[in-house]
Amino acid sequence: MIHQKNPITKSPNHQITKSPNLSIKIGSLVLKNPVLLASGTCGYGTELDGLLDLDQVGGIIIKGISSSPRPGNPPPRLVETPCGLLNSIGLENVGIESFLKDKLPWLRDVKTSLIVNILGNSVEEYSEIAKKLDGAKGVKAIEVNISCPNVKAGGIAFGTDPEAAANVTRAVKKATGLPVIIKLTPNVTDITEVARKVASAGADAVSLINTLLGMAIDIKSRRPALANVFGGLSGPAIKPIALRMVWQVVRAVDIPVIGIGGISTPDDALEFLMAGARAVEIGTATLIRPSTAGDVLAGIKNYMETNSIQNIEDLRLPE
Ligand SMILES: Cc1cc2nc3c(=O)[nH]c(=O)nc-3n(C[C@H](O)[C@H](O)[C@H](O)COP(=O)(O)O)c2cc1C
Repeated sequence: MIHQKNPITKSPNHQITKSPNLSIKIGSLVLKNPVLLASGTCGYGTELDGLLDLDQVGGIIIKGISSSPRPGNPPPRLVETPCGLLNSIGLENVGIESFLKDKLPWLRDVKTSLIVNILGNSVEEYSEIAKKLDGAKGVKAIEVNISCPNVKAGGIAFGTDPEAAANVTRAVKKATGLPVIIKLTPNVTDITEVARKVASAGADAVSLINTLLGMAIDIKSRRPALANVFGGLSGPAIKPIALRMVWQVVRAVDIPVIGIGGISTPDDALEFLMAGARAVEIGTATLIRPSTAGDVLAGIKNYMETNSIQNIEDLRLPE
């Protein structure tokens, strides 16, 4: 897609206006627009080839990558719920070496910002992957999934322990010069406490929310519907919770906040931007309708033109 900078266009009321500026900054990372594809719902990019013009989105966030390949959990690992989806994929991925060798070359040709989501079961694992991504041509930023169990602390998720979350942040920041986005879990009592800790540990931005822990029971087989029993809830059902948490975190930290959770329409995205999110990620909605991100982007642009709003930041509600 040819990206013209602020071309002169006619607004719906036929006044000559400048096209809105959709580009945003997250630390040193400049994105051409604020609509990103969420980790785990766009695979390694190739899965969406031909279904969505990847060049038009602000960024692609790759499926969580670990130090070694992971097979993930046994099936069934997806269950639909009212207005939502429960998944227990178990962080299946090809591992960092295969990602760099087999997946990254194709992704380099996509004209959007490539952000790699990473995961680990120890601070050292996060650090090791971040180091390997540091010099990788084409990678523009790292998003750190801290919803993973810390094996050295009895399996408690890094993201539910503010100190452990800060330790991961410090280690990843030390290992790479790339901008670091820490992805927060909603499965905590006070998400602002973790957000403050990772911000003071040097995070360039936070993204939220990851999935909410849930379960379903198959009453015919009389067994939990997921082989793993518990799974992560996503989709429109979680949007009000995500929006509330984004609102709180925006007001608790000084670094950029990326909003995620149930965004399926331009109006959903606008709510997050009005709450103060600098950008949004589209997850489950892409699995339902792969063109969603393109439609959300067009809708945001249309809203800004109709309401004569020039910059994305101007969408934020006054305090
Ligand atoms: C099938 C599936 C796989 C996911 N895999 C990851 C992952 O690897 N890393 C991660 O940080 N989040 C992962 N997520 C969470 C999403 O990126 C997102 O935070 C969450 O689904 C909420 O957004 P949504 O309601 O728009 O889907 C996954 C979600 C789904 C549905």
